Amino acid sequence: MGFDAAALPVFPWDLLEPYRRRAAQYPDGLIDLSVGTPVDPTPEVLREALSAASDAAGYPATIGTAGLRQAVADHYAAWRGVPDLPPQGVLPTIGSKELVAQLPSLLGLGLGDVVVHPVVAYPTYDVGARLAGATPVPANSPEQIPAAMRDQVKLVWLNSPGNPDGRVAGRSDLTTWVEWARRHGAVVASDECYAALAWEEPWVSAGVPSLLDPQVGDGSLDGLLSLYSLSKQSNAAGYRAAWLVGDPRLVARIAGLRKHMGMMMPAPVQAAMAAGLADHAHVAAQREVYGRRRRVLLGAVREAGYVLEGSAAGLYLWFTTPDRQDCWETVADLAGLGILVAPGAFYGEAGRAFVRMALTGTDQDVAAAAGRLAGA
Ligand SMILES: Cc1ncc(COP(=O)(O)O)c(C=O)c1O
Repeated sequence: MGFDAAALPVFPWDLLEPYRRRAAQYPDGLIDLSVGTPVDPTPEVLREALSAASDAAGYPATIGTAGLRQAVADHYAAWRGVPDLPPQGVLPTIGSKELVAQLPSLLGLGLGDVVVHPVVAYPTYDVGARLAGATPVPANSPEQIPAAMRDQVKLVWLNSPGNPDGRVAGRSDLTTWVEWARRHGAVVASDECYAALAWEEPWVSAGVPSLLDPQVGDGSLDGLLSLYSLSKQSNAAGYRAAWLVGDPRLVARIAGLRKHMGMMMPAPVQAAMAAGLADHAHVAAQREVYGRRRRVLLGAVREAGYVLEGSAAGLYLWFTTPDRQDCWETVADLAGLGILVAPGAFYGEAGRAFVRMALTGTDQDVAAAAGRLAGA
């Protein structure tokens, strides 16, 4: 066994429970903006395709249907500036979280190997490294990796737009990592699940660059993997509809292992995902909804004196106080208004002065949260 279960972090959400209880005592009730779970209905186009494919007596293919693989390639051509992706480089995953947690193991990493992830990050990058018995190392640029560890790096995680801080990596940032990783024989995996949700320029007009952009990898997919998910852009977190795409040799190896493991996306979900990818109208409509909620919350948070950082894209506002008080104090202040947010410390020590507020409240909750902040 490559890992020690005791070395995994304690599931931190339990630490929020006292603040949830406190927020719930607010006279008009709790507004939970601590998690990014979509609250709007799953669009009909996905639901109808799911239902139409519900006669699914046989086993689905781990690699997905040809139609699904092509739909993913078409999505990158239409929306991510990545033409001509080979469909054999596409692999459906059961949501992206399981793949984030398993990728170091699927790449055969173990003791003595290093997995790099952003300094303020979604915690599953760290967990996945530990599950493989590898060492997680936070770094936002190659120079931040301790010199003695550089030759041990086998996987670099990028996350753009970032959770929790909403930062976007430009093409030159991505290229810096790709060139460094190729020199060191490391794979680069970019988790891009918030790419449809850009709020600030240049990303609104130009789009959020993908790691697979031909300008980033010098026209080659060697050692590069992109992850994406319909959880957010299609209100389909309950479907577990996501994928991995990139270097066809790496993807074939991973697919081979996942066949042994039985990691197959259910056939009706494959159909729903292909249908969701073929329809962009619902994605644009949902983006409008989040844009509206973001304007309301952003105005209220600033008006209340908080200081925003990053947050150029994605589903969250990432903010601190002018004196950068500890995140738990800010969590407590907001819980006093009946608003629950996530403490930045959940995402690494560097997030200690910040909190993360999700844009995934209903219109009613978002308006009420803004009203409470204004009245504070
Ligand atoms: C950065 C990042 N990656 C992956 C995921 C997992 O998404 P899912 O498993 O729903 O595809 C999330 C969910 O919030 C996320 O924020």
